Amino acid sequence: MCGIVGYVGNEQAAPLLLEGLSKLEYRGYDSAGVAVYDPSTGLSVHKAKGRLAVLDKMLDGGRSVPGRVGVGHTRWATHGAPSDVNSHPQISRSGRIAVVHNGIIENYAELKDFLQGQGVPFTSETDTEVVAQLVEYFCEHDGVDILEAVGRCLRRIEGAYALGILCADAPDQIIAVRKDSPLILGYGDGCSFLASDVTALIRHTRRVGYMDDGEVAVLTKDGIQCYNHLMQPVEKEISYVDWEIDAAEKGGYEHFMFKEIMEQPQAIRRAVGPRIRDGEVFFEDFALSDDYLRQVKKIYIVACGSSYHVGMVGKYNLERILRVPVEVALASEFRYMDPIVDGATLVIVISQSGETLDTMAALREAKRLGAKILSLVNVVGSSIARESDQVLYTWAGPEIAVATTKGYSTQLVVLDLFGLHMARVLGTIDAETCRAILEEMLRLPEKMEAVLENKDAIQYYASQYFNHNSVFFIGRNVDYAMGLEGSLKLKEISYIHSEAYASGELKHGTISLIEEGTLVVALGTYARLFDKAMSNIVEVKARGGDVLALTTEDHGQEMAKVANGVVTIPNTHPMLLPSLGVVPLQLFAYYVALMRGCDIDKPRNLAKSVTVE
Ligand code: M6R
Repeated sequence: MCGIVGYVGNEQAAPLLLEGLSKLEYRGYDSAGVAVYDPSTGLSVHKAKGRLAVLDKMLDGGRSVPGRVGVGHTRWATHGAPSDVNSHPQISRSGRIAVVHNGIIENYAELKDFLQGQGVPFTSETDTEVVAQLVEYFCEHDGVDILEAVGRCLRRIEGAYALGILCADAPDQIIAVRKDSPLILGYGDGCSFLASDVTALIRHTRRVGYMDDGEVAVLTKDGIQCYNHLMQPVEKEISYVDWEIDAAEKGGYEHFMFKEIMEQPQAIRRAVGPRIRDGEVFFEDFALSDDYLRQVKKIYIVACGSSYHVGMVGKYNLERILRVPVEVALASEFRYMDPIVDGATLVIVISQSGETLDTMAALREAKRLGAKILSLVNVVGSSIARESDQVLYTWAGPEIAVATTKGYSTQLVVLDLFGLHMARVLGTIDAETCRAILEEMLRLPEKMEAVLENKDAIQYYASQYFNHNSVFFIGRNVDYAMGLEGSLKLKEISYIHSEAYASGELKHGTISLIEEGTLVVALGTYARLFDKAMSNIVEVKARGGDVLALTTEDHGQEMAKVANGVVTIPNTHPMLLPSLGVVPLQLFAYYVALMRGCDIDKPRNLAKSVTVE
């Protein structure tokens, strides 16, 4: 939610800020703005409602705005509708302090009342303006410098925030602050950067520092000084980012989503290959000891959205091989449901971004209750990764499209790997079975490539059904879990109403919605329940529904006897079926959205990284 950038150095800032924002637009895209300081013009603020392209055009790619220091913002509105005035940067009354913010200032109303009582006028509906006005209030009222004023402001504000602050009275620096919202420092030669995400920095520097909660940083062209919450100087560890720059570019594809779908075989290779040795799972420096795993009585999987759907697959797979109860909880519900968690509970937190606020809050609640946390995270150095007892990175590479694809599929295999590792520790799976599943896992990328080669068939089915207004996904067991993801993919990017049901539930209500021509995507890849899948298809057909079915090659012909259309995936181990089966569902959603003319990479009202509650 919202992207922040900052630059101070010898180059013109505005073009660099706009370029950085273009990499962060996936985080929010209802308005954008920059504040730049130049000795001749002072602090100038430029902002516009709409996509970044509007601002970019207005500023001629940044060329019309002089200055070598500045901050920028791309917004996902929380307080105040998308509008020019509510866009960031927000400025103080005198116009001398500009603030960009990602997060929510929870006590903004009370602070606004206080400031208004002191005669400070407000111009926007945002919570962020409070920060700009409060910092200026401390500068003027207490006669302190900008850094001290920021420190005083931090003692007053509550909530989650990443802030970039530029002040006309100290124009050689940017002040950055982080609490519960990501913020990354970039160390360049003769320049310093600030960004919500490394993708915005990587063209200019690979040397980054991940800010910790409560930290304040002062960026100048000569370097970056960090302070802890007591404003004592701290030494920041510098990490090196080894991502390929191309990984965060479209590379000739029309959409990031399609590129990321196509990248899945390679991503799976990266996530799995190094973690299999001699027919066993191998995790380097794994902090959850065998003794610890042996005393685990219950596993909780906690996540949001697609990551939660990975957890749903995980419940079936893990319970089957571990014989340990697995509960899956929506992170947004977890901390409010008084969860039964203790030292014998392993909590597995799944998050592509590693920054989802609900997931982070659930992690902290689970820790407070005494559980150990294993996280499956894609973004290296993200907050969830850093607060976990053990992180298993999914190594999917940067995922830019709001709709996750390779993020999801890499989470699936890494969770399977963990399940197999734990099953070997518990002795619930023998070495031979484990080896066979791992060998099959190594074949997944090749099989996935075969699924991707069949994309024209899926495009054809999309052309048949793209103008439907309502779709149902049905399946049992792992097929049901996979249906949840297929349904979410479709609705989030094509805006078609779509729901996923466990097939057996149809007759308990949903079947009344099936009428002539209703599209039902029937998932029947799980061989053990294939006959039941067939029966459900027949029931839907009998009520006039159109059935597009998904099954394995072995069952394709059989299914074609009852369904209107069939897509097949290669046969594989039951545990791995969702890894292959989700790919046609992603492609189906993609093509349907394309045919409906939707903004595929940036669906309305959404953002990639959800850092508000
Ligand atoms: O970064 P996370 O995995 O924590 O994100 C969780 C959800 O916000 C995310 O999966 C969301 O549902 C996607 N847009 C689905 O495509």
